[in-house]
Amino acid sequence: MAHKILVIHGPNLNMLGKREPETYGADTLSDINTALVLHGKNQDAEVTTFQSNLEGEIVDKIQQAIGIYDGLIINPAAYTHTSIAIRDAVLLLKMPVVEVHLSNIYKREPFRHHSFLSDVVAGQIAGFGMQGYFMALDAILHILKS
Ligand code: DQA
Repeated sequence: MAHKILVIHGPNLNMLGKREPETYGADTLSDINTALVLHGKNQDAEVTTFQSNLEGEIVDKIQQAIGIYDGLIINPAAYTHTSIAIRDAVLLLKMPVVEVHLSNIYKREPFRHHSFLSDVVAGQIAGFGMQGYFMALDAILHILKS
């Protein structure tokens, strides 16, 4: 059976392509999602994507993942640095979770250096742009197969 992987994108990531392209790249969110679904298909994984600008909607989506998905990739965007609610929701999950950031948050402003998720996820990938999502998917599938 194909592994089902949920990808959650946080606030302002719907503006990728237009948003600070020097930091986040030229690809749109739709480019990233299309490529991720294809990358999943090539490895017999079913990728579903979701974006929200609202913290509560992200919490709801994480809760709803229980019993449906086998793994979660999440770029909580600015909520990475502020949200205990998203951290607590991730703690509900028994599936592997990988945190992704397009930019290397540790090379940026000090307020981006702390993630409320990094110590409760399987791992974090930061600084590789869109490629980071593929790396996260490969990592989750590797965990699920081992
Ligand atoms: C981001 C990094 C965050 O600090 C920022 O608020 C974002 C995007 C990234 O993908 O590099 O919105 O998560």
